[in-house]
Amino acid sequence: MSSVLPIPFGPEAYRSEAVFEAERSAIFEREPVPVCRVESLAEAGAFVAGSVAGEPLVVLRTASGAIVALSNVCRHRYATMLEGQGCAASIVCPYHRWTYDLDGRLIGAAFMEGADGFRASDVALHHFHAEVWNGWVFVSLHAPVTPLASRLAALAEALAEHRLADWRAVRTIDFPSDCNWKAMVEGFIESYHHMGVHATTLEPFWHAHESFVSHADGEYLELRHPMHEEQGTFAVYLGLPLFLLAIVEPRRAAYWYEVQIERHDRIVVRVHVMLPPEIADSAEAATEAAESIVAIHSEDQRILRNVQAGVASRFTQPTALSPLEAGVAGFQRYVRARLEAHVRQA
Ligand SMILES: [Fe+2]
Repeated sequence: MSSVLPIPFGPEAYRSEAVFEAERSAIFEREPVPVCRVESLAEAGAFVAGSVAGEPLVVLRTASGAIVALSNVCRHRYATMLEGQGCAASIVCPYHRWTYDLDGRLIGAAFMEGADGFRASDVALHHFHAEVWNGWVFVSLHAPVTPLASRLAALAEALAEHRLADWRAVRTIDFPSDCNWKAMVEGFIESYHHMGVHATTLEPFWHAHESFVSHADGEYLELRHPMHEEQGTFAVYLGLPLFLLAIVEPRRAAYWYEVQIERHDRIVVRVHVMLPPEIADSAEAATEAAESIVAIHSEDQRILRNVQAGVASRFTQPTALSPLEAGVAGFQRYVRARLEAHVRQA
């Protein structure tokens, strides 16, 4: 696989369905990824439907108050059941009304008397591994070898002063994007592109050439800017593989970039605007933070389209990354290492 993905990645890394399939097995079927915030699951029955590595699932709060991740696929004829987010007393399949309780047990299936080999008590929805970290619910298809809390201990320490568990996601903006997930993550973890993409929005105060990677290891990457007297500063964090968070200070706002990966060339970037508890009820603060991220991420969305068009090229060649792109190099090393480890295990 190392010959498939030299660093810096060549264009095939972003356009190949085979590489994407390998990433799915090597990374997304194994690693915990954030699916929602706990404040979305305030009361019993509150749920958020989503998917991890293409697997449909729903995260919900059970009657006993536990947070669980269940398969969102009916055991009968495999229709997906809950959609979006909301609150439900039970999970009812829209196809034939099979009904499951919040722990995933089948509690209702009409006209199944006399059905061959059917016993309702044998039927339940699969449970995935769910873990709450800093106010986010992370889900993984298989129980991780290392619990998230110990894996992300250093990142938790870096973020501790913000007390993010108390923040609230107050707005959500979807950016459907025709690009490979890696191109998006790479743009997130470098500010070299402020000169080109954000020349009038970010570059005037957060200069590309002053950005620096302040932490890089196999668990997380951190990129920062020096403090600007009026605008303050910001830092971006990438908890590998797919926890993306930007924090602006001292005018406090955070942006959680939830990346929903649909195909090798299609993602939805769902940006959640988060505010600290002291201003979380301020509609004005929410609107201001949302408007600024719409302006900025729209600029990113446009350039990601250019990149996806460019990686179709069969004649371009990789050259080198700038020292300002140390975060990109760190991310690429992580992806390559995971793919190599997966090939060795196979
Ligand atoms: Fe950007």
